[in-house]
Amino acid sequence: MSTKPKLQYWTPDSWRNFPIKQQPIYKNNAVLEGVEKSLSNLPGLASPGESRALKRELADAAFGKAFLLQGGDCAESFAEFSEDNLKNFFRVLLQMTMALMYGASCPVVKVGRIAGQFAKPRSENTETKDGQELPAYRGDMVNGMDFEGVGREPDPERLLRAYYQGAATLNFLRTLARGGYSSLKQINRWNMEFVHSSSQGKRFQELIDRINECIGFIQACRLPLDEVEEFSEASFFTSHEALLLGYESSLTRFDETDGKWYAASAHMLWIGDRTRDPNEAHVEFLRGVANPIGCKVGPSMTVDGLLKLIDVLNPENEAGRLTLISRMGSGKIAELLPPLIRAVKKEGRNVVWACDPMHGNTIKSPNGYKTRKFTDILAEVRQFFAIHKAEGTFAGGVHFEMTGQDVTECLGGAQAISEINLSDRYHTHCDPRLNASQSLELAFLIAETLVKQKN
Ligand code: PEP
Ligand code: CO
Repeated sequence: MSTKPKLQYWTPDSWRNFPIKQQPIYKNNAVLEGVEKSLSNLPGLASPGESRALKRELADAAFGKAFLLQGGDCAESFAEFSEDNLKNFFRVLLQMTMALMYGASCPVVKVGRIAGQFAKPRSENTETKDGQELPAYRGDMVNGMDFEGVGREPDPERLLRAYYQGAATLNFLRTLARGGYSSLKQINRWNMEFVHSSSQGKRFQELIDRINECIGFIQACRLPLDEVEEFSEASFFTSHEALLLGYESSLTRFDETDGKWYAASAHMLWIGDRTRDPNEAHVEFLRGVANPIGCKVGPSMTVDGLLKLIDVLNPENEAGRLTLISRMGSGKIAELLPPLIRAVKKEGRNVVWACDPMHGNTIKSPNGYKTRKFTDILAEVRQFFAIHKAEGTFAGGVHFEMTGQDVTECLGGAQAISEINLSDRYHTHCDPRLNASQSLELAFLIAETLVKQKN
């Protein structure tokens, strides 16, 4: 049994009294304070009601009645912000959803790493090239990616730019989710040119044909398809790592309907693997907002450490409140995850277990690119499912770094991207992402695994 920690009074700013990691050092704190003040007067992006709806969907995932699909860029960027990129991202997410729903007969909870995923934790504070040392790139919300003196200086105005890009992104994604595009009747339009010709595209076309047959049958029964929300709209939510707490706390709002505080920068926020110390600022901030939250669980997590974190982050043991995102690596998950799952189960804690098969499987290719092997990603996901089956618990979801673009950042998959291909279209601002075909391929493979699990 873990001992329950004594928690002090929480406010949106109480985190400021705790030790904090991974924050940029701004040269001009007066400008930062001015920006935070502006943010605190700007409208929230995500509403408390929407965050509560996501929590209800995640509560189903905690008990194996739904499956969480969370994905998007490692780091969003100002330069790659365009309607086409957003549309392609959303299309591939809908395609993956269909592959999972049709294959596994299970509702899919769709959460983007988007509309706020602009800040990155780094292993070093500085980067040195040819004898010159500059602050490390910490995401477009902090500084510029190019190795250049002025641009690498953290600039508080970037917080506002991230907010406005987040607002426009969420607005556009809402129009796609609610404005007819996500209707199952539009499913023929979701396949992208460059995916269409691939083996995954062909597989998706077969899926479309089968779904269209079902729709035809339902219509022949005179069932009112247009009146059923699930057929005409998609529920879609946003999330990002809550790293820059000045940004997050400035965008925290009190909701009079339930008397609780909500982060309004996204529906769901998560704590990174480097900032999850229960005695530090990130956990302090996240414990006080009523949104659904996530926490990365990497190889250094202990059973006691995990139970203590759960006590702080989800003291009411509310299902859907806390998603534990395991990111062990394909070589370590079999040894490290089972004791954690067992302890959480034994203590009766309600959590969603999700698998991030990306961050434990990053390697450097001989030609210097940070990359990941499709086979390692798949191997971690498969083990994650097998472990849950063996423990009698639920594999509640997956967490991917992916894009709708035709990039060449991860090795392998049906397109057989090799080390020499990496330089062709390597565009990520941080970690390597699955491209559209690889993402869809993975969704089909997960759907197959989910079906096998049920039988
Ligand atoms: C991330 O999700 O991009 C990330 C930095 O992950 P982690 O905290 O698990 O390393
Ligand atoms: Co990443």
